[in-house]
Amino acid sequence: MSGKTRALTNAEKNQSESALGGARLHRALLAWFDVEKRPLPWRATSDPYAIWMSEVMSQQTRVETVIPYYEKFLTAYPTVRTLAEAPVEDVLGLWSGLGYYRRARMLHRTAQEVVARHDGAFPRDKAALESLPGIGPYTAGAVASIAFQEPASVVDGNVVRVFARLFNDDTDGRAPAGLAHFRKRADALVSADRPGDWNQALMELGATVCTPREPRCLLCPLATVCEARSAGTARDLPRLTKKAKPVAAAFDALVVAAPNRVLLAERKADGLFGGLLEPPLFDTAPTLLEAAQQARLAIGDSLGIVQHTLSHRKLSIATHRAVHVLDVMPPLPVSGAYVALHAVEWPLPKDTRVSTLARKILALALET
Ligand code: ADE
Repeated sequence: MSGKTRALTNAEKNQSESALGGARLHRALLAWFDVEKRPLPWRATSDPYAIWMSEVMSQQTRVETVIPYYEKFLTAYPTVRTLAEAPVEDVLGLWSGLGYYRRARMLHRTAQEVVARHDGAFPRDKAALESLPGIGPYTAGAVASIAFQEPASVVDGNVVRVFARLFNDDTDGRAPAGLAHFRKRADALVSADRPGDWNQALMELGATVCTPREPRCLLCPLATVCEARSAGTARDLPRLTKKAKPVAAAFDALVVAAPNRVLLAERKADGLFGGLLEPPLFDTAPTLLEAAQQARLAIGDSLGIVQHTLSHRKLSIATHRAVHVLDVMPPLPVSGAYVALHAVEWPLPKDTRVSTLARKILALALET
């Protein structure tokens, strides 16, 4: 050392300020998390497979909904190898009701890659995790930090909300550039000592205290340093571009039920509800009538209309009973959306690979 001193550059100042601020934030939020965290089943394990499973299931889904699915999956498939070796139809069946079914297909595919490329051991760092198909920055950051203690950040909608308020930052968190901005903030602030707990604490705060509409600032461990709270802007943040409204779409569904059997069509593997079974859906009345005629189906009673909203579509399904005139399961022509027809036990066996929408349609037929 020369012994000479020099003034800190601005960059160094910023860095040391954020390091100091960071340490204070870490202490406050981690102390809160230690006391208030929910006792979630995946918090009692350090198995990267179980942690990965919980994080895939938790995307777009509330934690309370996830818990029974998480337990069911770990019982059926206790290791990544058992999941990789399972038929995808069974995986979709266990996922039935959890929604966003692409996640189940990707879960299976990722498991197969972990076995094929890494002999069943999850890679231990964020970059290697992200190179697996089906693992994006969110999941890679979560597994790397929670299972392997890598100081990697995790940004989901909860984290965007917490940061937007903490720093009174009105960057649009839904635009790609805005998300990148919040990822940078998250990278700069991740705790080196307890990265997994830090990330989970941010998500937990967003889910339970720093909630979208009625933030519970009186309970917040960061209230004294929250810039939106002092500016009075907490309720206006985060700024998010409006999501497009779900587009209305109408279909006809046919429930073709013989005693103890129902005819279900299997959807193509890619696309909405890929690989799931459902009562065949037809675009419009003329298509329905044509298809019914070809398949020697007599359309019977109207069972009512099922309404079901997905993230992008608001579906209205006019449901009809149908009877095959020869009283056997008909070779219904497979329309563009389908690859096969199956006569399935009725009522459906547990863990049949159907969506909640298909269950609603079938419930009309069972109830009437
Ligand atoms: N949301 C998704 N994953 C979570 C986790 N590990 N902790 C809290 N909330 C979450």
